[in-house]
Amino acid sequence: MRVAASSSCFSTILRFWTVNLLFLLKLDVATVNAYNGKWRVLTANAGIASMHTAVNFYDSVIFLDRTNIGLSEINFTNGYCRNNPQDRVLKHDCSAHSVMLDPVSGKVRPLTIITDTWCSSGQFFANGTLVQTGGDFDGMRKVRLLDPCGPDGGCDWMESDTENLKDKRWYSTNQLLPDGRQIVVGGIESYSYEFVPKRKSREGSYELNFLNETKDAQNDNLYPFVHLLPDGNLFIFANRDAILLDYRRHKVLRKYPTIPGEPRNYPSAGSSVMLPLRHDDDFTVAEVLVCGGAHNGANSKSKGRDSPASETCGRIVATSSDDPQWVMETMPIRRVMGDMVILPTADVLIINGAQNGSQGWNKATNPAYSPVTYSPDNAKARFHVLKATTIARMYHSTANLLSDGRIIVAGSNTHQYYTFSGDFPTELRVEAFDPPYLDPSYEDIRPSIFNLTTKRIRYSLTFTAVFTVVNRTGDFELNLLSSPFTTHSFSQGQRMLKLNITEPVELGRRGMYQTTVTAPPNSIVAPESHYLLWPIQRKVAGKGVWVQIHSSDSTTDQ
Ligand SMILES: *[C@@H]1O[C@H](CO)[C@@H](O)[C@H](O)[C@H]1NC(C)=O
Ligand SMILES: *[C@@H]1O[C@H](CO)[C@@H](O)[C@H](O)[C@H]1NC(C)=O
Ligand SMILES: *[C@@H]1O[C@H](CO)[C@@H](O)[C@H](O)[C@H]1NC(C)=O
Ligand SMILES: *[C@@H]1O[C@H](CO)[C@@H](O)[C@H](O)[C@H]1NC(C)=O
Ligand SMILES: *[C@@H]1O[C@H](CO)[C@@H](O)[C@H](O)[C@H]1NC(C)=O
Ligand SMILES: *[C@@H]1O[C@H](CO)[C@@H](O)[C@H](O)[C@H]1NC(C)=O
Ligand SMILES: *[C@@H]1O[C@H](CO)[C@@H](O)[C@H](O)[C@H]1NC(C)=O
Repeated sequence: MRVAASSSCFSTILRFWTVNLLFLLKLDVATVNAYNGKWRVLTANAGIASMHTAVNFYDSVIFLDRTNIGLSEINFTNGYCRNNPQDRVLKHDCSAHSVMLDPVSGKVRPLTIITDTWCSSGQFFANGTLVQTGGDFDGMRKVRLLDPCGPDGGCDWMESDTENLKDKRWYSTNQLLPDGRQIVVGGIESYSYEFVPKRKSREGSYELNFLNETKDAQNDNLYPFVHLLPDGNLFIFANRDAILLDYRRHKVLRKYPTIPGEPRNYPSAGSSVMLPLRHDDDFTVAEVLVCGGAHNGANSKSKGRDSPASETCGRIVATSSDDPQWVMETMPIRRVMGDMVILPTADVLIINGAQNGSQGWNKATNPAYSPVTYSPDNAKARFHVLKATTIARMYHSTANLLSDGRIIVAGSNTHQYYTFSGDFPTELRVEAFDPPYLDPSYEDIRPSIFNLTTKRIRYSLTFTAVFTVVNRTGDFELNLLSSPFTTHSFSQGQRMLKLNITEPVELGRRGMYQTTVTAPPNSIVAPESHYLLWPIQRKVAGKGVWVQIHSSDSTTDQ
């Protein structure tokens, strides 16, 4: 009896503990997952649906749509109108097709583009001027410049009458180079690359047969993924293939193996990043990650919009001297037209797009509402599914990092013109997504940069960073991120560097710490430009601070 009683008592206790333990475990899991991101509509009407987006070092967000599309939903207030007898839709157009947005207030200001920027490319120059190349119709050979200014500043696009590009650049990709120029790669029927600005006014373009070899029936060689590797060469990926190009001697140095699975570039629209370069291998190793894509033929088939998108990511050590292979992994959500944004914590955010179909007008369905993160250093917990939005971001949508750590998400225009009816109407709402590191419960461990000895950082030299944090605990890092030009699921010029810092030392005042930082070694690893410097503690990001990286003999000053 006693035994039975005690055993029953024991089992009651056991049950009690089990229930509580389960409850506690559940609670714990719930706590861990409680904050998996937050969405907010930043502005209900940006006036245009952005298909190209960049953030300048004043934190102004530049949105670009195109001409030859008719009226946008924002008119010029200064009396400007575009008069173009060749415009396919509206020969007298008083609406703007580019705007500058203040990501704090959500207010927009119209900017003036004159020629068609449809499916163009771009990137910032070292001085912060945004370069914008190519497009369609009258814009195919154009170069446009936008000097940097704050959201309320007076800067506007500058476009000259001359055509500055040798070849048509429609669906091409730009990359900032160590010499301060940009390379513009590919485009429809342009199996070549060229430079902006030209070294001599007569400088032409250079043939790149790889872009012809990777062209298929549905043109899967467009918007090639271009990454500047730390060995000074370019990794260029198109369709399912990749090469290493020495663009200075115009020589293809090697061919990488074909990635398994689907085609990955426009219109099959996967995305790609070069994973963070790290000081602990002297910035010598570069890995490239490619995620998502569309089923081969989805773009040309009539029912192609239902066809399942790719569910794989491939990763390759692009700088390996051996015989590097693609290592394949499976995403929790299939995705085409996803954007890949390197977060300050070095995780890669995969956001936007659809689960079925391909890129193009009316070519996709089943939006991928939930973003996912990819943790490059955590093979055991590679992917995390984050909070879903309710707004579909299909063709012609973008995602960019802001200096406060939020992601600004814009666009989606799956039809010709501004069409506000039917499936996936033109989207003028702009959202801000807070990734998990912005969880308010992290305030005590969130670091904040208090001071830097300089914001003009010279290669290889050291500088001092002072930061504050309530609770100093665990790993502290300083990461540098470039500000890319994002369009058609690829962020042109996106790169991250994990910097070498000394163990933070507490200063006299409590909560204030100092660390010595070594700048990146050279302009191959980090081309001269403005970058965001991010303080990270225990994978929690503080706000980014804009710094300018330059060489000692640099004359560019901003
Ligand atoms: C812009 O101007 C056009 C032509 O005057 C007008 O039809 C349209 O409603 C205006 N749009 C906005 C958003 O004010
Ligand atoms: C920035 O550099 C580019 C290229 O050298 C030049 O065209 C542009 O005028 C410069 N902008 C400013 C504001 O200095
Ligand atoms: C591209 O390749 C095709 C055949 O593969 C060839 O006929 C064509 O001439 C090439 N085009 C260019 C511009 O090299
Ligand atoms: C990091 O920088 C320190 C000097 O601040 C240097 O002694 C050390 O070798 C560097 N470490 C690496 C891995 O580069
Ligand atoms: C999308 O693809 C999935 C996976 O193959 C499939 O189960 C689903 O039916 C497709 N959705 C549509 C709308 O066709
Ligand atoms: C920031 O650092 C610089 C250089 O050490 C120093 O001159 C300046 O006074 C510091 N500013 C603050 C607010 O501490
Ligand atoms: C500091 O943060 C760590 C990690 O979250 C935590 O374990 C510790 O209790 C915190 N310390 C204080 C004083 O809050």
